[in-house]
Amino acid sequence: MTEHDIANLLDQAAAARERAYAPYSHFPVGAAVLTNSGEVYTGCNVENASYGATCCAERVALFKAISEGHKEIRAIAVVAAGEEVVPPCGICRQVMIELAPQAVVAMANLEGKREIQRVAELLPSPFGGGYL
Ligand code: THU
Repeated sequence: MTEHDIANLLDQAAAARERAYAPYSHFPVGAAVLTNSGEVYTGCNVENASYGATCCAERVALFKAISEGHKEIRAIAVVAAGEEVVPPCGICRQVMIELAPQAVVAMANLEGKREIQRVAELLPSPFGGGYL
C-alpha cells in the first residue's frame, strides 16, 4: 500500500459518502475497498425505516467486491464527518475479519485527519468458521 493508494481510496470513499441514504441518522458515511488485483468498489450507508435493516458503508463496499468475485481485499477506506475519524462498527469488524482478514483500514474525517489500523487489530480474539 503506497501513500498514493491510500489517498486515492480515501478520495473515493469521500465521493461515495455523497451518495449515502441516511434520512434517519443524517450521518452519511462512505467506504471504498481495494482488491489485491487493483479494483476499487465503493459503498455508502443505506438506511431503512426499520432501522435494523440498515447496512453500513463498509459492508456495502465489501459485499460489492465479494459479489463481483474478488476474494483478496488489500484495504478498506472509511470517511465520515466529525472531529475524530469514525471506526467501523462491531458488525462490520466481524464481516471484515471473515472477508478481508489481511486488510488495512484507513479511516478519515472530512478535514483529512487519518488513522490506519489492520482488521486484525480492530477485532482481536475473533469468532470464525473454525469454531463451527
Ligand atoms: N455507519 C456506517 O455506515 N459505518 C460506520 O463505520 C459507522 C456507522 C452508519 C450506519 C448508520 O446508517 C449511521 O452510520 C449511523 O449509525
